[in-house]
Amino acid sequence: MVVVTRRLPAAVEEQLAREFDASLNREDRPLDAPALAHALGSADGLVCTVTDRLDAQVLAVEPVRARILANYGVGFNHIDLAAAKRRGLVVTNTPEVLTEDTADDAVMLMLMVARRAGEGEREVRAGAWRGWRPTHLLGTKVSGKTLGLVGMGRIARAVARRARAGFGMRVVFHDPVPPPPEVVAELGATALASIDDVLRDADFVSLHCPASPETRHLMDARRLRLMKRGAFLINTARGDVVDERALVQALAAHELAGAGLDVYEREPEVSPELLAMQNVVLLPHLGSATTETRVAMGLRVLENLTAFFAGAPPRDRVA
Ligand code: DGY
Repeated sequence: MVVVTRRLPAAVEEQLAREFDASLNREDRPLDAPALAHALGSADGLVCTVTDRLDAQVLAVEPVRARILANYGVGFNHIDLAAAKRRGLVVTNTPEVLTEDTADDAVMLMLMVARRAGEGEREVRAGAWRGWRPTHLLGTKVSGKTLGLVGMGRIARAVARRARAGFGMRVVFHDPVPPPPEVVAELGATALASIDDVLRDADFVSLHCPASPETRHLMDARRLRLMKRGAFLINTARGDVVDERALVQALAAHELAGAGLDVYEREPEVSPELLAMQNVVLLPHLGSATTETRVAMGLRVLENLTAFFAGAPPRDRVA
């Protein structure tokens, strides 16, 4: 039996129920720590998501019956991997299938914030639009500008391709483990020696590093200050890569021109100051939110569970 912690697309839930005697969460209420601990003690596996805090304390439950955490999502910073390993739990994720959608999300945020799309939409909906005029809602040109990528994994590469092919952008990046030179050449991107170099150079900075203790608050007050005053910050990675308080202060001090955010430090809470800023586009963690991709993620979870319970190595094992 597996416990599925959130509602999943119907086709995925049906297959999970058929093949794994799944306990589904029809109300879609997030599981708190006692409910997660109970699931670990009573099911053979958990299909979990970013909203489940599987920390060392929850994973310390006795006795543990579960043997696999099949995460529905690519990011797994909500799972204490070391603690999971100690309890003999295998952890899998769902990479690749959400790469293109998340790259689209980053580009959407870049365009929205630069072209003031949110402001424009709010104006039209409020009935406040007075018609076309040459000086109305002037934004910032995207085409031909410099995009700086922090991290150059799958999603960053997909963003680089869109930026180059679609908008003729120059692409610079920093990744402590850069892709092979032929991949960098194919992308037409330029590796810079440090994140700070990327921040100083870019008109748009897009974050694509995993959340970890090392990347927590990577974008802190000092780094935000390195950005150009006319530059925009885009975050589709994880909220805690940015010090949200420092971002609020930097935006208030006009140290950067704006931000497009899909993720937040304390989701679903958003700093109230951000809600009041016009030069910020705020989306509710929509990176992979298309029907096609959410089904594909579910199929990937199913593939991992099937392999694991058949005694084979799951394709997407991360611990
Ligand atoms: C992911 O796949 O990591 C999404 O952000 C949801 O967890």
